[in-house]
Amino acid sequence: MDRRSVSGTLPGALAAQAIARGRFDMQHRYRSVVMDAERSEGVWLQDLDGNIFLDLFGSFALGALGYNHPALLATASSPAFARAAANPTSTPFLTAPDWLEFVHRVQERWAPAGMGSMYCVDGGGEGVESALKAAFIVHGEARRRRAGRSPDPLQMDADEQAAWMDNRGTDAVVVAFEGAFHGRGLGPLSATHSKLLHKADLPAFPWPTVPFPANRWPLADNAEHNAREEARCLVELERALDAHAGRVAAVIVEPIQSEGGDRHASPAFYQAVQRLAGQAGAAFVLDEVQTGVGTSGRLWAVEHLQLPRPPDLLCFGKKMQMGGFFSTPEFAITRFGRMYQTRNGDRCKAQLAQTVLQTIEVEDLLANVRQTGALLLEGLEQLCRRHPGLLSQARGRGFLLAFDLPTAAARDEFNRRALARGVFATYTGSRSVRLRPHLVTRPEHAEIALSVFADVAAELDG
Ligand SMILES: Cc1ncc(COP(=O)(O)O)c(C=O)c1O
Repeated sequence: MDRRSVSGTLPGALAAQAIARGRFDMQHRYRSVVMDAERSEGVWLQDLDGNIFLDLFGSFALGALGYNHPALLATASSPAFARAAANPTSTPFLTAPDWLEFVHRVQERWAPAGMGSMYCVDGGGEGVESALKAAFIVHGEARRRRAGRSPDPLQMDADEQAAWMDNRGTDAVVVAFEGAFHGRGLGPLSATHSKLLHKADLPAFPWPTVPFPANRWPLADNAEHNAREEARCLVELERALDAHAGRVAAVIVEPIQSEGGDRHASPAFYQAVQRLAGQAGAAFVLDEVQTGVGTSGRLWAVEHLQLPRPPDLLCFGKKMQMGGFFSTPEFAITRFGRMYQTRNGDRCKAQLAQTVLQTIEVEDLLANVRQTGALLLEGLEQLCRRHPGLLSQARGRGFLLAFDLPTAAARDEFNRRALARGVFATYTGSRSVRLRPHLVTRPEHAEIALSVFADVAAELDG
């Protein structure tokens, strides 16, 4: 059933009033929708004024099971959840069986193949930062071993210890890709290259950046261009690795560059990046904060890449309800005091994550994402063919879907008109519409979205 209903301008009177009341929040200007958390349901986001939107924004891929999913409500209202909320612990030192059960289940059923450990923090960027720390630690210890020294930092001589304490310890680097987004903390921000506004005025490590393939769609018509692009970027990667020989702790990459404009590359490209990273003695870090937990139609997007071996580190966030990373046994940092945060392992988040992961199985949501994602992509491709001057580059894998407009202004106008018709899409890169539907978005919802996009495109195309 189509439940869309929008009347008048947005935000409506009640939402505008609520937004004004929240002015103390320095981000209050970003908002135009205020959710009615009680009345929103499934893919239908209801606002305070009673407007109802088909939510393809999904809070930038955070949304997993839609609004008020009964399984999540049952978890969040259970006595076990209340006790986890009321009795937080610093989980590395003190925990309760719910956490241990969660970790066990993830290991048994949901961790990417070949990844033997997990490290949990609060958000996605923090997970990336932690993974990079693990890479640096393993790299530093290996360098000392190769030099015939003890890997143990406490065995360093006094000058070297002083250098570390004084921020002069390392010349090791992380190689990242142009257009990448890995988070906004002062660590991951040095590997983030998607937008000037993210970086201006903020200090950054002088780490090398290499180009990411500017592939074109439809893939079948652009095979030659894309192969050339990927080869060009791999040459640049090799060059950067050579230029920093022995000093590259990690090469980090997203399976699909999300914030940077939904840019895809082929499995062969990722296989080559992994091989080159390995040859350079660098960790291969896959950032699945946005692509993980079913968004790509597989539980982890790494499953699409046909890698000959697991990545060394794989970061998660968003739908996982917490940030963190999985690691191969070699990159598990187990020494006391090396990596620790008070809130490692939030038991409330773990209970929610477990429910999300279980529900993905129970409701066969991966199959749904693949089926509905394919319908959406096909529809977007048709729209591109119908409006070649306005829409282009429809691309997607599962529910990571996007298409381009000629300019940022045209893209924003497209989204504004879609929102006024009750379809909430979002932006990425310089001129792309990004869709990140909840995993419970079904074919009938895809049809509604496509018919609204068709109307908006027809209107804009004059
Ligand atoms: C690929 C990727 N890495 C890291 C992050 C940062 O996650 P968070 O905003 O939860 O810190 C994001 C957020 O969009 C992301 O898309």
